[in-house]
Amino acid sequence: MMKKKRSNPYYRSRNRKFSRRHSRRGYSRSRRGSRRRRGWIIALVLLLALGGWGATRYRAWFVSPPESAYVVPQGIDRLTITPGEDFLTQRVVNWRCDTLLQDAWLDYRCIDSLCADTALVELPAVGQEVVTRAGRNYYYHAEINGLKAGRNYTYRVKTGSNTSPWYQFCIPDSTAATDFIYIGDVQDPGGGGTDALLHSLRSRYPRPDFLALGGDQIEGATDYYWNVWYQAIGDWTATVPVVAATGNHEYIKGLNRTLDSRWVPQYNYPDNGPKGFSRRSYFIDFPHMRLIVMDSNDIQWPASIVKHRSWLKDALDTAVQPWKIVMFHHGVYSVRQGRMNPVMRYCFRSILEEGGADMVLQGHDHAYSRISTKSENGEKTTPVYIISSASPKHYRNGFSDVHDRIGSGLFLYQTLHVTPTELRYRSTTFDNNPYDDLLLRKINGKTVVQDNAKDWGEIFAFDAFPDTKKGHKKRDRYHEEVLKRRSKL
Ligand SMILES: [Fe+2]
Repeated sequence: MMKKKRSNPYYRSRNRKFSRRHSRRGYSRSRRGSRRRRGWIIALVLLLALGGWGATRYRAWFVSPPESAYVVPQGIDRLTITPGEDFLTQRVVNWRCDTLLQDAWLDYRCIDSLCADTALVELPAVGQEVVTRAGRNYYYHAEINGLKAGRNYTYRVKTGSNTSPWYQFCIPDSTAATDFIYIGDVQDPGGGGTDALLHSLRSRYPRPDFLALGGDQIEGATDYYWNVWYQAIGDWTATVPVVAATGNHEYIKGLNRTLDSRWVPQYNYPDNGPKGFSRRSYFIDFPHMRLIVMDSNDIQWPASIVKHRSWLKDALDTAVQPWKIVMFHHGVYSVRQGRMNPVMRYCFRSILEEGGADMVLQGHDHAYSRISTKSENGEKTTPVYIISSASPKHYRNGFSDVHDRIGSGLFLYQTLHVTPTELRYRSTTFDNNPYDDLLLRKINGKTVVQDNAKDWGEIFAFDAFPDTKKGHKKRDRYHEEVLKRRSKL
């Protein structure tokens, strides 16, 4: 009998012959200890798994391709015009020349007979040494203020004994519509055909008011990739202003990522961004719209999120123009399969909606997506979120119902025509087939979205699946998703 009782761990022995771990309290402690051990083992396994996964992703997350040694031409190159805060009166001309600081100027004059003064103006330029991972350059810029709307100008730049050709630019009339082209990621590693795409685009639209670039213009922060970009776009940037957002490929990876040291001196955008983000988060005022550009790559930590939230809110609230367009690289709603940008979604979407943003131009996903916000009664309204790409790299898209219109494997550019009451948005393939078409109208204080492409078929041309059993399965699943999507629409 006693033996039976002793085998029971709950048995309380009056003479305490049982060890404490056999008592109820002892057993309970032992159970807690065993749970704790199991917890530690699970945590260790998870940590090891996470470490293993991190090790496989380490290069992708933290290592940029090295920059090869390069030679900076002694002449003037990379001539780029950018707007000041006021699109109708300010231009900045930026260029690179050599590895020594030299005296530099910009000559410009109005070439319209309507101009009261057509005399040549000589402006001193500011030179700045730019040190990169494998070399040093001198970048220069000169700011032109007091330009007149509706006038044409000619200019050239000089550095030491080097002089550029004469180029022309025009300042649109204050009452004219604003016409611009939006291009998402380009990210051509070289030989990807971007030169042919941009050449065809330029021959179709030689003089848009400006070019908007949504980031990842280049494959990586090296002199070679910037050469790929400038060889592709030619001297278009010397006559048409460029408004660019940074992409992650303009950053050098690492535990603390840094923007390519060339980016700011090459563009010199308005210094009206949040503190610490000078000339990379900024806004530009056009006659009928305010365009707000954010460096979404560097908005990852609480301090930068807080700063940008309050700056974006203020930039939207103080805009007096009828249209507000915002541009940044990382999509609020990603279209790439399995991707999500929680900071943009959860920290900025509400500000875009409450601040009355009409259109949000984004990239990063190398596929196409258009999403309109839905009103309480289900009507399409603003903000309209766009993701587009012109890159030879294509990613597999997801099929969430949140997207009004999607596509993959496409090379697209977007044209926007903005008047005080209407915004016409079109997305077109570089071989000139329309892919999306919206008309946004301001009617009685409301913005109405008219979807002109609702009956157009979607294109899913993505096919970069590996030629393996797993890859074939993925392809089959993708095609099933395509059929499911088509049956719903
Ligand atoms: Fe990107």
